[in-house]
Amino acid sequence: MLSAEENALLTEVGPGTPMGEFMRAYWIPALLSSELPHPDCDPVRVMLLGERLIAFRDSAGRVGLIQNHCPHRGASLFYGRNEAGGLRCVYHGWKFDVAGRCLDMPNEPPESDFKHKLRARAYPCVERGGVVWAYLGRAEPPPLPDLPANQLPEGEAEVWAVQHACNWLQALEGDVDTSHLGFLHLGSLMPEEVTPDTFLYWSVADRAPRYEVVDTEYGLTYGAWRPAGPGRRYWRVAQFLFPFYSQAPAGILGQHVGTHALVPMDDHHTLRIMMHQRQAERRPIQGRSERLPSVHTELLPNTSDWYGRFVPRANGENDYLLDRKVQRQGLTYSGIWDVRVQDNMVTESMGPIYDRTAEHLAVSDVAVIRMRRRLLQAVRAFAAGRPAPGVDHPEWYRVAAGGVVLAEGEKWLTYAEAAGRRLGASAATTSPERG
Ligand code: FES
Ligand SMILES: [Fe+2]
Repeated sequence: MLSAEENALLTEVGPGTPMGEFMRAYWIPALLSSELPHPDCDPVRVMLLGERLIAFRDSAGRVGLIQNHCPHRGASLFYGRNEAGGLRCVYHGWKFDVAGRCLDMPNEPPESDFKHKLRARAYPCVERGGVVWAYLGRAEPPPLPDLPANQLPEGEAEVWAVQHACNWLQALEGDVDTSHLGFLHLGSLMPEEVTPDTFLYWSVADRAPRYEVVDTEYGLTYGAWRPAGPGRRYWRVAQFLFPFYSQAPAGILGQHVGTHALVPMDDHHTLRIMMHQRQAERRPIQGRSERLPSVHTELLPNTSDWYGRFVPRANGENDYLLDRKVQRQGLTYSGIWDVRVQDNMVTESMGPIYDRTAEHLAVSDVAVIRMRRRLLQAVRAFAAGRPAPGVDHPEWYRVAAGGVVLAEGEKWLTYAEAAGRRLGASAATTSPERG
C-alpha cells in the first residue's frame, strides 16, 4: 500500500513531474523504425511522457522527433510536407530539419536572418534493432543501454509493440507479479495434461512459488522457485531495470534474449515495446499442452491519432472479447485465449491510474513492493540532484532472465549473473555502432 503522495510520485510522468524528469534522463524507445518505412514518408504523431511530438524520416533517412506545434504560429507540423531534407509547415512554409534547425522561411523578406535565430524543439534519435530511440534529457546524451536485446546483429532483432490503456506502472507491475502465471494464464491447465518434467509442468504442479528478491544497481532481480523433483528446484529469474524495463522469465536462462520497455505515452497510456531475438522461444514457458494460451496479439490497424498506435482488437471497449462459455468450461481460466489480452484485461480494469492506497499486498507481492521502493528511492534521489542509476553505466544492463533447474542449495543469483555476463559479452562483440 502506498500513500496518495507516493502513488502520484510514481505514476505521473508529464513534463515537470519528478518521475517524468527522471525518465528523461534515460534514452527512451519511442517508436518502431517500421512506423517510418521510407525517406520522406508520412509523419507520425507520437505521444511521449505527456508531450506531443511529430516523428518524421527525412530524405536522407534520418529520423526527427520534433515539437507538434510549429514555432511560428502553432499549426501542427503533423500536417506538414515532408520534403527535401525537412518537414515544412503548410501554414506559411517554414521548414525544419531533424535537429530542429529552421532551413527556410519563405514568407519573410530575403534580407531577414530570423531563421538562423529560431530553433524548434527536437530530440536526438538513434535507430537500432528496429527501434527508434529518443533522448529527451540533458544536452549531451549518454550511451544507449547494453541490453542484450538491444545489441543483436542486424537481422536477428525482432521488435513489436502493443498499447496499454493504463498508467505505465501498473503495466510494469503486472510483469513482476509472477504468481499470476498459475492463475490468469495457466489456471485451467492441470498437471496431468502437460508434458512431465518441464518448466510448464512444475508451474502448474505448484501455483504458490517462493520468492527471493535482490536489489541491484540496475533495479532489482528476483528468483521464484518451485520444486522440480527430488533435490531440485525450478527457478524463474526475472528483472526490473531502471527506469521502465522488464525482463520476463520466458525461455531458458542464458539463452533467451528479450526485454520489454513500458514506455509512458502519458499518465493513462503506455506503449509496450518488445525487443527480442528472432525465433526466440515464443511460448511463455517450456513444455507443451493443447490448451496453452496464444501469444500472438491481434492489433487494430494503426491510425494517425495520438492514441492510435498498436491498439489490440480485444480491448476495454468490447470487454476484451471475453467468452464466458470458454471461462465456464475451463478451456482457459479467464475466458480469453491471448496472453497479452489476459494481462490487459486485469491491469486496465484497475483504472487508468490504479489507486494504491486501498490495496492489500501479501507475501507473493514482494517483488512489486520492492520495485516500488527502488523507484521511489531513485526518483527522490534524482530530484535531490543525484544521478539517475544506470544512465552512465550501459554495462549494468547486460542481464539475463529465464527459467533454470538447479540443485537445492545452488545459488540462483550467481548462476543468473554469469548467464547475463555471457549474453552481454556475446552481444557486445556483435553489436552495431554505439548510440
Ligand atoms: S505556423 Fe507554421 S509556418 Fe506559420
Ligand atoms: Fe501476465
